[in-house]
Amino acid sequence: MKKRKILVTSALPYANGHIHLGHLVEYLQTDIWVRFQKLRGHDCRYFCADDTHGTAIMLRAQKEGKTEAEIIEAMQQSHIQDFAAMEVDFDHYGSTNSDENREICAEIWCAVRKSNIVEEHEVEQLYDTQANTFLADRFVRGTCPKCRAKDQYGDNCEKCGATYSPADLLDPVSSITGTTPIVKRSRHLFVNIEKEHEFLSEWTAQSGALQPEVSHYLAGQFLNEPLRLWDVSRPAPYFGFEIPDSPGNYWYVWFDAPIGYAASTLEWCKRTGENFESWWKNPNTEIHHFIGKDIAYFHTLFWPTMLKLSGYNLPSKVHVHGFLTVNGEKMSKRTGTFILAANYYKHLNPSYLRYYYASKLTGRNEDIDLNFDEFENKVNADLVGKVVNLASRTAKFVHSSGLSKIYPDDCGLFQKAAETGAEIATAYEQVDSAKAMRLIMECADRANKFIDDHAPWMLKKDMARQQELQDICTIGLNLFRQIVIYLAPVLPTLARQTEELFRCPLENWTDSEKPLTGIPVAEFTHMMTRVPRRGIEAMIEDSKETDAAVPEIAAEPWKDSAEPLEAEPLLAEKISIDHFTGVDLRVARIIEAKEVPEARKLLQLTLSFGGGQRRNVFAGIKSAYKPEEIVGRLVVCVANLAPRQMKFGLSEGMIVAAGPGGSDIFLMSPDEGAKPGMRLH
Ligand code: MSP
Ligand code: ZN
Repeated sequence: MKKRKILVTSALPYANGHIHLGHLVEYLQTDIWVRFQKLRGHDCRYFCADDTHGTAIMLRAQKEGKTEAEIIEAMQQSHIQDFAAMEVDFDHYGSTNSDENREICAEIWCAVRKSNIVEEHEVEQLYDTQANTFLADRFVRGTCPKCRAKDQYGDNCEKCGATYSPADLLDPVSSITGTTPIVKRSRHLFVNIEKEHEFLSEWTAQSGALQPEVSHYLAGQFLNEPLRLWDVSRPAPYFGFEIPDSPGNYWYVWFDAPIGYAASTLEWCKRTGENFESWWKNPNTEIHHFIGKDIAYFHTLFWPTMLKLSGYNLPSKVHVHGFLTVNGEKMSKRTGTFILAANYYKHLNPSYLRYYYASKLTGRNEDIDLNFDEFENKVNADLVGKVVNLASRTAKFVHSSGLSKIYPDDCGLFQKAAETGAEIATAYEQVDSAKAMRLIMECADRANKFIDDHAPWMLKKDMARQQELQDICTIGLNLFRQIVIYLAPVLPTLARQTEELFRCPLENWTDSEKPLTGIPVAEFTHMMTRVPRRGIEAMIEDSKETDAAVPEIAAEPWKDSAEPLEAEPLLAEKISIDHFTGVDLRVARIIEAKEVPEARKLLQLTLSFGGGQRRNVFAGIKSAYKPEEIVGRLVVCVANLAPRQMKFGLSEGMIVAAGPGGSDIFLMSPDEGAKPGMRLH
C-alpha cells in the first residue's frame, strides 16, 4: 500500500469559551479519522490551535481588567486539558496569536495584494466612545427607522422585518456601556472574490473536495450571483495583527484564523525539524479540513481563494458535519443540556462518548442527536455486553495455560472478520464511522454466539476437556483482539488495555489479519463498566444554570462528635496551590441589599471593598436572609470571578456561604476587626 502524506485539521475553537459536547462532535470525529490513518501506516498529522483574535476577547479583557494575552493563555490551557481528557490527540496545538501566524498572514496577504484583488472602501459604523470600540450589529439596539419599533438590533427589525445599516437606527444604544454611540467613518480593505468566481464554481463542483450537499448549497446560495466583497480589515482598536501595508488597520479574525492551520503546522515543523513546504506546498500532500456546517462558506469560498493566490495546496477534502442537539433539542443552559466537556469527563468515561458519536456520524452534514437513553443502552449493549464481555468470559480460563500453540479451527470466523476488515476500513476512510461500528458489532455478534455455543465455563469443570477449553478461549480472545484493533481509532484506551492483556503491541491495522498463538495471557483486569445512570444525572444537574449565584464553597465539617453523620463527602479531585491562590477572596461589606422581585432566590447586593471600590453581586440567599438583616455585615467575596450577565443585571462576583439551600444557607464572615478589601490567604 502506498504511504500517503495527510495533513488534517479541525476548526480552531474560539478562545472566548470552553469546549462543550457540540464542539466534541467535530474533535472526536477528526481524532478518530486521524487515528485510523495512523493505524493504517500513513504519514498523517493532526493540527489545531486556539482562535484568539477579535472584539470578543478585547471586550472581555477590558471588563476583567486583564490583558488579552492572559485571557487567551488561560483558555488555551483549559482547551488543551479538555482535549487530552477526551483523548483527542493533536500533533500540535497552537494559537493564532503567534509569530508564525503573523509571518504566514503577511506572506499570504502579500500574494493576495499582488493579484490585484484588494480594494479600499469607506465604511460607516457605530462607535462606542466609552468602550473605545466599533460596535458589531449585535452590540447595538435602538428604534427601527421604518416602523419605529423600540429596542431592535443594529441590522434588522424583528417587528417589521426591515434590514438597515446600524447607522440608520434611531436612538441607538451600545449594549456594552449603555451609552449613545457616534457614527464613525473608516476605510476598510476588501477582497473582491468575485474575480475568482469561475475558479470557485469549478472547484466547489468538480474537484471532489466537497460533499454533494455542500456544493449544492454553495451553488444555490452564493455562486448563482456575483460574490460580494469580503471585508478583511478592522480599524483600531482591534485585538489582532496590524496589516503591514495599512497601518492602523488589522486583519479581521476570519482572515487570520484559517491561516492558523498553517501556522500551527509551522510551529510543529520548528519543533520537530520537519519541512513546512512539504506539507503545505506539495501536490502529493492531502489536506483534510473537518468543520461544522455553520462555517462552511469561509472554508469553501474565501479560504480556497487565498490558498490558490498564494501557491498553497488547495484542500483535498472539506468534511462538513452537522450540529448536535441533546435529547432532541438545542443545547440549553436552563435544562442542563449545555454540557461542557469538563463536566462530561468529571462524571462519565470518555470512551462512552467516543463510541456513541462514532456510531452516529455518517460523513453527511445532517445534525445528530445525543439522546441519553440511547447513549446508555448503546454503550452498555455494544461495548460492555458484546465487546468487553468476550474477553471477560474467556481470558481468566487461559491465564495459567496461555493461548494454544496452533490456532484451532474456528469454522472460518477469524478469516471472515479479517475480510470484513476491508469494508470497515473503507467506511472509516469515508468518515462513515456509523457504518464501521455496525460492521464491527456484527463481528462481535458472531464471536459471542461462538462462545455461547461452546460455553467455556462448562468445559472448565471437565478435567478431560482442558485442551478444548484452551482452544475455545484462544479463538474467543483472538476474535476479541481483532475487534479491538478495528475499534482502536475510537477506543484508544481499550486498545492499550488489550495490549497489556497479551503483552503484545497493537500498532497496525494489519495486526488484525493474523491470530496470536502460544503466548501467555495476563491476568484479566476489568476493562469498562456499564454507564452509571447517576453519572448522567449528576452531569445534567451540574450543567444547569440556575438564576442564582448559588454559594459554591462548602464548609468542612469540624471534627466533633456533635456534627451530623451525614455530611456531604469531601471532593476527591484536588487542585493545586496555584489554582487556589488564583482565587481572589476578599473581605467585603454589604452596604446595600434589596430583593429582586422577579427572581425566586436572589438578593441584589452592593459590596464595598474600601477605597470607593464597589461591586454589584446577585446572591442566591433570599430564602435564608432578609435584606435588612445583612446590611452592614462583613462577608467573603470571590472578587476575580468573571462577571456574568444575568436577566436582572451584571453580577460581578460571588459571596461565600455554606449549606444545602432553602433556609439553610449560612453566610461566611471574618472575625471582628477585619477590614473590607483585605485579601484572604
Ligand atoms: N473559531 C471558529 C473556527 C475558525 S476555523 C479557522 C469557530 N469556533 S467555534 O468554537 O465556534 O466552533 C468550532 C467548531 O465546533 C466549528 O466547526 C463548529 O461548527 C463546531 N461546533 C460548535 N458548536 C457545535 C455544535 N453544537 N454541534 C456541532 N458542532 C459545533 O467557529
Ligand atoms: Zn421595524
